[in-house]
Amino acid sequence: MTAEETLNQLAQEISACTHCVLHETRKMSVPGDGPANAEIMFIGEGPGFHENEQGHPFVGASGKFLDQLLAQANVTRSEVFICNIVKCRPPGNRDPLPDEITACDAHLEAQIKIINPSIIVTLGRISMNKFIPGAKITAVHGQMRKVDDRFVIPMFHPAAALHQAALKPSILADFARLPDQLNEARAALGKPVIIKEKIVEENQDKPKQLSLF
Ligand code: URA
Repeated sequence: MTAEETLNQLAQEISACTHCVLHETRKMSVPGDGPANAEIMFIGEGPGFHENEQGHPFVGASGKFLDQLLAQANVTRSEVFICNIVKCRPPGNRDPLPDEITACDAHLEAQIKIINPSIIVTLGRISMNKFIPGAKITAVHGQMRKVDDRFVIPMFHPAAALHQAALKPSILADFARLPDQLNEARAALGKPVIIKEKIVEENQDKPKQLSLF
């Protein structure tokens, strides 16, 4: 089986999962979206109303903001894997409970093993806690660190930045560093550095400027 097929099979298993109570109230499970060879994996908290309706992660308001943040890092959704710490919606969008996170952890671990990303970006304190327990997000956001075989960058949750304007400059700045951090991670993991061209059209009369990543 290819990695893509294994990932799809896992998504099928997740859609039939009854390991915690969240399956009782879900409309659709939300396993995650993205290619099996993604270099960057984003892990949010849990599906919200729209995700539960559509079966895809980050399709509501915070997803729209995430799209802007990705664009600022010159990254498209189609090249990253986006999922959540729990795959079914906690009722009323409450935080997932510790036993729900534990019950869902085997699914997340299996996804990480299949995808083997260079970088995991945690969105919000709940997914940060899995990799950097006890850290304070206000102190460590944007800082990349090695955790086991890969690098982890904790970031604020896009929804938090939407609701607290004071966090917006920080999340924008953290995403802007992502291309350089990806190359730093790749170099440390012995993978070739990626040079991605971005056409910056400042002025039609001026020559087009190429930037790295
Ligand atoms: N918030 C999350 O943490 N995940 C989603 O998929 C949507 C909103």
